[in-house]
Amino acid sequence: MLNPDQDAGVQSVPPHALADRENIAALVDAFYLNVRADDLLGPIFTNRLDGHWDQHLPKMIDFWAGLALREKGYQGNLKAVHQVLPDLTPAHFNRWLKLFIDTVESHYEPAAAIGFIEPALRIAHSLQLSRFGWDFKIPAVQLELLEQINPRKTGEAEGREVATVGVGIATAVNRTEDADAALVAAATTAGLATDL
Ligand code: HEM
Repeated sequence: MLNPDQDAGVQSVPPHALADRENIAALVDAFYLNVRADDLLGPIFTNRLDGHWDQHLPKMIDFWAGLALREKGYQGNLKAVHQVLPDLTPAHFNRWLKLFIDTVESHYEPAAAIGFIEPALRIAHSLQLSRFGWDFKIPAVQLELLEQINPRKTGEAEGREVATVGVGIATAVNRTEDADAALVAAATTAGLATDL
């Protein structure tokens, strides 16, 4: 595994048709290299994680393997971790998603890429609702992305305005002021096998 605490180059390989643990490790490495180089996100991650990447990266591989491969392994509290990060704004989430989607698309063929992008969008939605309040309006760009990758699961098909199933569930559960349940619901919708 590539550790951003050490200097290392990035290799480019043809996109994978299927996710496996090895290529998920490569995806995670590449994503965090991109994140570290990003002007908006880089400082947040280096402040928290420099000197600790050895603990963070295996956790992220477990997390994505849980989603993409239905493996058990990730144990953590996503909401608590992101709740304490200072000065997060919706712009941070937009950038995180853009970098993540770009990295996934450069590593996987489209059918496999969706297995990462869809849960990322749904979980990002829930994290934003937890962080900014349940009446926060998810940025249109994120709703449009989810609509593009999975039009059958949007409310539009049922004659409503564009609203995703994940956001719908998270919003409904957030109305009971149980944001942890919202995250679990979104992760379950996304296919994450473990508790958040
Ligand atoms: C604004 C966007 C985001 C920022 C700035 C951000 C930042 C961070 C940082 C700094 C950590 C390390 C915290 C620490 O250990 O002290 C972290 C952990 C983590 N992030 Fe994010 N994150 C973002 C969005 C997301 C999204 C959308 C997902 C999932 C789709 C995600 C998944 C995770 C996971 C699984 C961990 C490990 C949590 C744990 O320690 O159990 N993050 N994030």
